[in-house]
Amino acid sequence: MNIRQLIDIETCTYTYILWDSKSLDAVIIDPVLEQVSRDLDYINKLNLNLRYILETHVHADHITGATKIKTNTNAEICYGSKTGVSGADILLNDNDTLNIGLIMIQALHTPGHTSGCTSYYVDGYIFTGDTLFIEGTGRTDFQEGSSISTFNSIRNKIFNFPNNTIVYPGHNYKGLTSSTIGYERKYNPNVGDDVEVDEYVEREKNMNRPYPEKFDIAVPANLLCGKIDK
Ligand code: FE2
Repeated sequence: MNIRQLIDIETCTYTYILWDSKSLDAVIIDPVLEQVSRDLDYINKLNLNLRYILETHVHADHITGATKIKTNTNAEICYGSKTGVSGADILLNDNDTLNIGLIMIQALHTPGHTSGCTSYYVDGYIFTGDTLFIEGTGRTDFQEGSSISTFNSIRNKIFNFPNNTIVYPGHNYKGLTSSTIGYERKYNPNVGDDVEVDEYVEREKNMNRPYPEKFDIAVPANLLCGKIDK
């Protein structure tokens, strides 16, 4: 399996392209609208057959490039079944799987940051979106966010994978690119093994985070898989 991590500098969003070496079947995870030309150039240069566009959730900080990529490739747009989006080709339930060549991708319903958050486990790697960050977790103060759900999703589902599983998050604002389950269990201040649920929930309650700049544009567009009138 091949993995490329790409970044949208403005929003510090990570996009991932994964493909099977033999069939060249590929998926893209969390594409950003402004970066679609870059992503398509890369896919075309490597001769990849883009099969699926996977979204980890309905983003509030950027518009997804899903619809624009689909128009150019015929790949199918996939969201978690609890996201409430319109226009997706496939709605994934917990533990549903997709294949690209010989590679199996497992969808995991990991609510918390939003009620529809989905993580994807692929052969020793887990793409956690905004559920689990490197030494952090996604905010839980909008889109039916719930700190208790975040805690349970991570502790009871994501942390069940082996310690050497590589964690690829949806964002990082410090330039860190990946982590491992073992590292997060030890050092994550919100959900690490030593943290009690009440401690984290109480702390989340008192966080005064700013309203996301693009929220009012991004969320309605993303509920339509990034379809915008242009
Ligand atoms: Fe998010």
